[in-house]
Amino acid sequence: MKKRNPQKNTMITLIILSVTPFMLCPYGFAGDREVYLKNCGVCHTLSPSAARRQGPPLNQIIGRKAGSIKDFPYSDGLRSADWQWSAKTLDRWLENPQGMVPDSYMMYSEKDAKIRQQIIKFLSSNPSS
Ligand code: HEC
Repeated sequence: MKKRNPQKNTMITLIILSVTPFMLCPYGFAGDREVYLKNCGVCHTLSPSAARRQGPPLNQIIGRKAGSIKDFPYSDGLRSADWQWSAKTLDRWLENPQGMVPDSYMMYSEKDAKIRQQIIKFLSSNPSS
């Protein structure tokens, strides 16, 4: 028989305890950050200095003028947009970006209002990373 290793057993127990809540959580109970990362994180960072992804960084997005990150290659429509991002404009945008900016490059839309609200709540807390 193998010698028992109490330290290893403790580690394994800790790992199981820490991942179990995530495995038990249905999607609807996932944290706001996780929902943001899952839906937006592939294309958007939360830091102006991080390596750029497909979309512009979303730190301090609430109150920011749409299409205003200087060196980001926006679509013409978003570059010349005349609104600021608020909970209301973000909700419209996430439901259907091309409805607001027909030539927009953002290939994402979320039809579930609850998920949109969860993401907007997360972005309103001014997350930075
Ligand atoms: C497949 C990549 C992709 C995904 C996923 C994505 N976006 Fe975007 N997003 C973009 C691109 C590209 C642009 C620039 C669009 C343009 O120039 O027309 C953009 C633009 C934006 C803008 C405008 C920013 C500004 O500076 O005016 C906001 C706000 C935004 N996205 C929010 C989100 C949120 C929130 C999510 C997740 C729910 C999300 N996006 C998911 C690619 C993506």
